[in-house]
Amino acid sequence: MQSLDELPPKSRRNVFEIGDGLRLFSAWLLDPLKIAAVAPSGRRLAMLITQEIDPHASPVLELGAGTGAFTRALLERGIAEHDLTLVEMSADFAQLLRKRFPRARVIEANAASLSAAKLFPSASVGAAISGLGLLSMHPRTVLTILRSTFACLRPDGALYQFTYGPRCPIQPAILNRLGLKAERIGGTWANLPPAAVYRITRSAPISVSATIGTGPGATNLPADGR
Ligand SMILES: C[S@@+](CC[C@H](N)C(=O)[O-])C[C@H]1O[C@@H](n2cnc3c(N)ncnc32)[C@H](O)[C@@H]1O
Repeated sequence: MQSLDELPPKSRRNVFEIGDGLRLFSAWLLDPLKIAAVAPSGRRLAMLITQEIDPHASPVLELGAGTGAFTRALLERGIAEHDLTLVEMSADFAQLLRKRFPRARVIEANAASLSAAKLFPSASVGAAISGLGLLSMHPRTVLTILRSTFACLRPDGALYQFTYGPRCPIQPAILNRLGLKAERIGGTWANLPPAAVYRITRSAPISVSATIGTGPGATNLPADGR
């Protein structure tokens, strides 16, 4: 029997993809709301969500890295592994990411409780990508994640978010509240399920007063106690 190393690169990739599919599907069975996907993102979606990112964007932040489907695409786009910070809440996936990307910074944490200042002392990140299932999260959690992500991003930085839904998975009230805008940059049917990608950028400088519970839009965001 051939060992994995003897297989041609394409066959080796297929073996990894089947293994990752089983891993993600098992994790989804245990916690469907957290995992929010029955299969890892396909290659077309990974290429789509990373298409505007190049080494000038380094360092790059990835939220909900899972088995590393988007991480691999970032490396293919020329981002150095040591310029990647991967945030993943599942201990099993965080361990897998450390094994697969030993030079990347893997943080096993809830993206909603990250301290942007500790993660990146200056707002130096050029691009962030998110594999998080925002549609299954409470709006207040989404707001918290976006606020801390944009605290890490340079003024011209962008967050790339995918969705299986028909529109941007971030409510207009949240975008307005944080002074952000979303633009759909493409979609693919070659994914299970089909998906679209949005680029989220600042429409105006973030106001320091944009904190939970104050300012316009606050009443549209019910408290979730988390
Ligand atoms: C839809 S999967 C995407 C995985 C991978 N990026 C992909 O596209 O195949 C979502 C991933 O986000 C992780 N996750 C969910 N909620 C999270 C949170 N609040 N903070 C960090 N990671 C989270 C899950 O454990 C899972 O690995």
